[in-house]
Amino acid sequence: MSGALVIAVDGPAASGKGTIASRLAAHYGLPFLDTGLLYRAVGLDVITGGGDLGDPVAAEAAARALAPGRLSNDAALTTGDAGEAASRVAGFPGVRAALLDLQQAFARQPGGAVLDGRDIGTVIAPEAQAKLFVTATPEVRARRRWHQLNERGDGITYQAMLADIQRRDARDAGRGSAPMVQAVDAVLLDTTDLDIEAAFDAARRIVEAARTR
Ligand code: C5P
Repeated sequence: MSGALVIAVDGPAASGKGTIASRLAAHYGLPFLDTGLLYRAVGLDVITGGGDLGDPVAAEAAARALAPGRLSNDAALTTGDAGEAASRVAGFPGVRAALLDLQQAFARQPGGAVLDGRDIGTVIAPEAQAKLFVTATPEVRARRRWHQLNERGDGITYQAMLADIQRRDARDAGRGSAPMVQAVDAVLLDTTDLDIEAAFDAARRIVEAARTR
């Protein structure tokens, strides 16, 4: 994989990591995988199949049955409910194991790749050349997500959004299997006071510094 630029972008919900990762991919001409979509699809497939989100067997079966084409153009994957379902099933080791090969194959493409998620720098691509851990205060993240969802007419209150973000952070960081944690060699990017242009610029500089190391 020498010569390949693999960029791992991890961090909590609404930190800006998705936008930063997709812009980095466009900038460097690399394929991009939003790994949260995999867990979202598994969560939704469990619900649609009449299963229980707390059932590890049903969740692992859904993960093993996931077709790659499932991720494109499904607006249902972007809802708050899908995010919540994703974080429930993402705690099951069998689900994470079922999704591992697909993600690692994506990261190992000859020219490199950009992946965003919670465990890219720690588990999926520990050898990534550039690793970012993107964060922001829970209050700022809740406000961003609340604006996004309200523009679509979801009607959730800011307080409910903040509670949702805090619950999701605690679940993602507290699980035993591949918890959300900054890799020791990841660079922290706090976007609390940054707009998207400034955040992207900072991210690009982090990647450039990593490439010249
Ligand atoms: O990033 P996104 O909000 O789409 O992720 C939804 C949920 O999927 C997260 O809250 C987390 O529980 C799970 N996830 C994960 N590992 C990843 C990506 C997402 O556990 N690499």
